[in-house]
Amino acid sequence: MTIILLFLLHIFMLVTHSAKNGPRRNVVFVIFDDLRPALGGYGDRLAQTPHLDAFIEESYYFTRAYSQQSLCAPSRNSMLTGRRPDTLHLYDFYNYWRDFTGNFSTLPQYFKSHNYYTYGIGKVFHPGISSNNTDDYPYSWSLPTFRPLSEKYMNSPVCPDVSGVLRKNLICPVHLHTQPLKTLPDIESTAEAIRFVSTYKRRRPFFLAVGFHKPHINFRFPEQYIERFNLEDFNNYTKDTHKPADMPNVAWNPYIDVRARDDFKHRNISFPYGPISTTQRSQIRRAYYAAVAYVDDLFGKFIAQVNRSNTIILVTGDHGWSLGEHAEWAKYSNFEVALRVPLVMRSPEFPLLASQRVDAIAELVDIFPTLVDLAHLPPLPQCKKSAASSDDLTCSEGKSLYPLLQGVGSGEHHVALSQYPRPGMEPTKHPNSDKPKLVNIKVMGYTMRTTMYRYTLWVRFNANNFTKDWSDIFGEEMYDHRSDVGEEVNLIKRPEFNETRKRLKDQLVAAFSN
Ligand SMILES: *[C@@H]1O[C@H](CO)[C@@H](O)[C@H](O)[C@H]1NC(C)=O
Ligand SMILES: *[C@@H]1O[C@H](CO)[C@@H](O)[C@H](O)[C@H]1NC(C)=O
Ligand SMILES: *[C@@H]1O[C@H](CO)[C@@H](O)[C@H](O)[C@H]1NC(C)=O
Ligand SMILES: *[C@@H]1O[C@H](CO)[C@@H](O)[C@H](O)[C@H]1NC(C)=O
Ligand SMILES: *[C@@H]1O[C@H](CO)[C@@H](O)[C@H](O)[C@H]1NC(C)=O
Ligand SMILES: *[C@@H]1O[C@H](CO)[C@@H](O)[C@H](O)[C@H]1NC(C)=O
Ligand SMILES: *[C@@H]1O[C@H](CO)[C@@H](O)[C@H](O)[C@H]1NC(C)=O
Repeated sequence: MTIILLFLLHIFMLVTHSAKNGPRRNVVFVIFDDLRPALGGYGDRLAQTPHLDAFIEESYYFTRAYSQQSLCAPSRNSMLTGRRPDTLHLYDFYNYWRDFTGNFSTLPQYFKSHNYYTYGIGKVFHPGISSNNTDDYPYSWSLPTFRPLSEKYMNSPVCPDVSGVLRKNLICPVHLHTQPLKTLPDIESTAEAIRFVSTYKRRRPFFLAVGFHKPHINFRFPEQYIERFNLEDFNNYTKDTHKPADMPNVAWNPYIDVRARDDFKHRNISFPYGPISTTQRSQIRRAYYAAVAYVDDLFGKFIAQVNRSNTIILVTGDHGWSLGEHAEWAKYSNFEVALRVPLVMRSPEFPLLASQRVDAIAELVDIFPTLVDLAHLPPLPQCKKSAASSDDLTCSEGKSLYPLLQGVGSGEHHVALSQYPRPGMEPTKHPNSDKPKLVNIKVMGYTMRTTMYRYTLWVRFNANNFTKDWSDIFGEEMYDHRSDVGEEVNLIKRPEFNETRKRLKDQLVAAFSN
C-alpha cells in the first residue's frame, strides 16, 4: 500500500514538474577544437560552412563570446567546471583539478546528478593527465567517453608529400584509403554521435557532448575540401607582415608548434618574429578554412539526426586561432583572434523564425549555468568569493545567459576576463613561451574585453602560491574596438586615453583580485 502511494506521489510530482517546467529536454553540446568564428553565419565571406550557417539561422548567436585562456586544457577545464583558471590553478596540461585544487562538479556531472544520461564523444575534456586519463569518468559521465580509434595517429607521419613520403606536416589533405584504419577521428565521432541519438531508448533525457578535433592542427582532412578554396583569396586576409612596434614582446606567441611541423621546419622562419612568406601565409589560412568546411559537413550530418523539437543544442569552440593578425599564428595569446569563439544556442522553448544576434559579452564560463537554466534544472549558485574554493564544490563563476534569451536585460555591463601565462618577458623556445609548464610561469597576462575596449596587463606571477604582483608590470595594452577591431594600435602611450586607461586598469585589477 505504502509503495503504491509512493508510486502515485512520484507520478504526481513528475506531472507537476512537467506542468511547471515543460517537458524535460535532451541536451546536445558541440565543441569544435580551436575554432574562431570563421563561419558564413558570422559574416565571414571566405567561409564555406552551409550547415553551421543554417543552424545559426534558427538560433541565438553571440558575437562577443570569449574563452578564459587560449589553450585547450585550461579552457575546457574552466568551461566544464564553470570556474576561472585562477581558481582552478590550471594553466597547462599537467594537473587534474579534483586531485590538485578541489573536487569541483562539472557541467555533465550536474546533469548526471539530475537524472540525465550523460555521454561524451571525442575531445570534450582535454585527454590525458588533465582529466586523469579517464575524461573524468565516472564523475561526469554515465559511461566512458567514446574516443575514436584513429585518434592515436593524430601526430604520426600520415601526410604524403609530393613524392609520396609520409610526413608530420601542418597542411595535410589526404585520401582516406591511405590513412591508418582508412578513416579520420571526426568521421568516427560523427558516426558514433549519429548512432547514439538515433538508437537512444531510455526514459531519462540525455546530455550528449560531441567534441570535434578539427580545425586544430594538423590540418588533416579529405583532400576534396582544399580544392574548394582558391589560394589567392587568402592573400589579403590581413595586411600584417611584421610584429607591431607597439606590441610588448611578452604579448607575442612565436607559434612554435607551427614551426615544428615537417613542412615548415626547414623554411628558415626566423625566431621569434618571423615573418612567414606570403604564399605560406595563404596556404595556412586556406588549410584552416578547409578544415572548418570539413567539420561543418560532419556537423551537418549529425545535426540532421537530432530531434530538434525536444533538444537544447549549444555549439561553441574552446578558443580562437590567429591567422596572421599581428603577423602571429596559432593560439597562445591574449588577442581577440585567439580568444573569441562562436557561441550558438537554441531551445524548443524559444522557437525562432530567424537568427537572433546577441552582442552582449559572453564567456565560456557562462555555458554551465546557461545550460542548467535552459534545461530548467535547479539554478547553479554563484561561487562565494570569500569562501575557500574547496568548500564550494557545485557553483559557477559565470553568469547565466538565459535572461538574455528571454529578452530580459541587455548585458551591457558584462565584460569578458581571460588570461595567458608566460615564462618571462621575451619569447623563448626553452621554456616554450607558447605553453609554459606551471613551474616555469613567471608572468601572467590578464585581459578584459568591454563592449568598447580590450585592456591587457602583464604582471609578475608566483607559481608557488598563485599570487600576482600588480605593481611589477611587464607589458600593458589597450585597443579601442570602435575604431580598431583588429587590435592594431596600442593606445597605452596616448595621453588623451589616460583616464580611460586608469579606469580600465582599476576595473581589471578589481575583477581579478578575489
Ligand atoms: C568527489 O566528488 C564525487 C562526486 O561529486 C564523489 O563521488 C567523490 O567521492 C568525491 N571525492 C572525494 C575525495 O571527496
Ligand atoms: C586519478 O587517477 C589516479 C590514478 O589512477 C587515482 O589514484 C586517483 O584516485 C584518481 N582521482 C580521482 C579523483 O578519481
Ligand atoms: C589584394 O589587395 C591588392 C592591393 O590592395 C589588390 O590589388 C588585389 O586585387 C587584392 N586581391 C584580392 C584577391 O582581393
Ligand atoms: C636555412 O638557413 C640555413 C642556415 O643559414 C641554410 O644553410 C639553409 O640553406 C637555409 N634553408 C633554406 C631552405 O633556405
Ligand atoms: C521528436 O520529439 C517530439 C517531442 O518529444 C516527439 O513528439 C516526436 O515524436 C519526436 N520525433 C521523432 C522523429 O522521434
Ligand atoms: C608568494 O610567493 C612570493 C615569492 O615567493 C612571495 O614574495 C609572496 O609574499 C608570497 N605571497 C603570499 C600571499 O604568500
Ligand atoms: C597623461 O599623462 C601624462 C603623463 O603620464 C601627462 O603628461 C599628460 O598631461 C596626461 N594627459 C592628460 C590628458 O591627462
